Amino acid sequence: MSDRLQALSQGFSKQAEWCHLLGSPFSGALMDQSADALANGDDFISRYMPWWTGKTAGDVSTDVLPLRFLGCAHALALGGTALGDTASALAAHYPSCDGNGKPDGVWALALEAFAAHADFTKAYVTQPPQTNEVARAGALMPGLLELARLTQMPIATFELGASAGLLQGLDRFYYQFGDAAWGDETSPCHVSPQWNTSVRPPVEASLTIAARRACDAAPIDILNPDNALKVRSYIWADMAQRLSRLEAAIAIAQDVKPVVEDASADVWLEDVLGGTDPVPNQVRCVLHSVMWQYMPKDVQARAYAAIVQAGEMATVEAPFAWLRLEPEANNRPMRVVLAIWRGNGKCDTRILADSHPHGTQIAWRGWDDGTPVESPELVQVFD
Ligand SMILES: C[S@@+](CC[C@H](N)C(=O)[O-])C[C@H]1O[C@@H](n2cnc3c(N)ncnc32)[C@H](O)[C@@H]1O
Repeated sequence: MSDRLQALSQGFSKQAEWCHLLGSPFSGALMDQSADALANGDDFISRYMPWWTGKTAGDVSTDVLPLRFLGCAHALALGGTALGDTASALAAHYPSCDGNGKPDGVWALALEAFAAHADFTKAYVTQPPQTNEVARAGALMPGLLELARLTQMPIATFELGASAGLLQGLDRFYYQFGDAAWGDETSPCHVSPQWNTSVRPPVEASLTIAARRACDAAPIDILNPDNALKVRSYIWADMAQRLSRLEAAIAIAQDVKPVVEDASADVWLEDVLGGTDPVPNQVRCVLHSVMWQYMPKDVQARAYAAIVQAGEMATVEAPFAWLRLEPEANNRPMRVVLAIWRGNGKCDTRILADSHPHGTQIAWRGWDDGTPVESPELVQVFD
């Protein structure tokens, strides 16, 4: 086997492990089969991503190649009969398409569907995956409740890497945090993470989102049905709960009509934080989930500088906060971290929770029992 195929196969195998670990045996099996296809000499990457110049298994992961192809196969299955025989043969196996859920031989069918829809496949895998994961709201919302409790002020949110903007509707979801609940129970979107703690978030806090803005380097207009299919395709096909939550959030988005500005977080932050004066008696909060690692180091540094600069200018009347759900410094599970500036340039940063990457399991500590961190900086080191 060539070094290239070995690296590719290893990278896809690694993704298979993650899929199995994160509760998607169907996707895990497909990734195992794709790793075997590569090991057996079928370099489908060169057919559909001839421009890719990576060399190592690490490059395969960094450029998220496996999830590009996994998503593309799912998109073709979801297109189903409308796309012809090869796509409907694929759909017949996909749990999300009422298929039989049996993964045996599915990657071979996916390869046939890629070949029959080569232009679609090339275009799809050219874009990095964007999983807009609704359940991550279950990790961010208790952080916003803490911020509302601590400041007693309405919050203006600035979401980075908002993708299709589904979390822009997070105050329209209903939440169950252990024995505490927040929101309108009649909401179509219920978020109820496994709450691995007895600590309750402050659901009694008065939370008002006074203003909301969002950006993404590649925003998706979720009001366009073609885009909705794409967002669906990034959810693993055997994860029924995630898919139904997504549908509910897409339905809410038709009403919320999220605006996701087309901008890189660093430039956008300089613009929106530097370009507008803080409103008295309102706390400005930059928030984001699972997007920081996608920014190059220099972009991260510029975004961080813009956040700290806004924080250092905060006052008691116009505080500033940074709330995030991100993998921090090689730590898994991910962490929910809140930093608050309330004047004199002073920042108070605490780890509020550990969380599953999809927000489905949360070990909540809250602000009062949160672990203080010396610097608000988000430093990520990946193997
Ligand atoms: C894994 S998705 C997460 C989306 C969403 N935050 C969530 O948790 O569901 C990462 C997002 O980061 C966006 N992104 C990558 N680089 C960016 C940048 N420099 N500025 C803004 N967004 C960026 C991608 O386009 C993508 O939508």
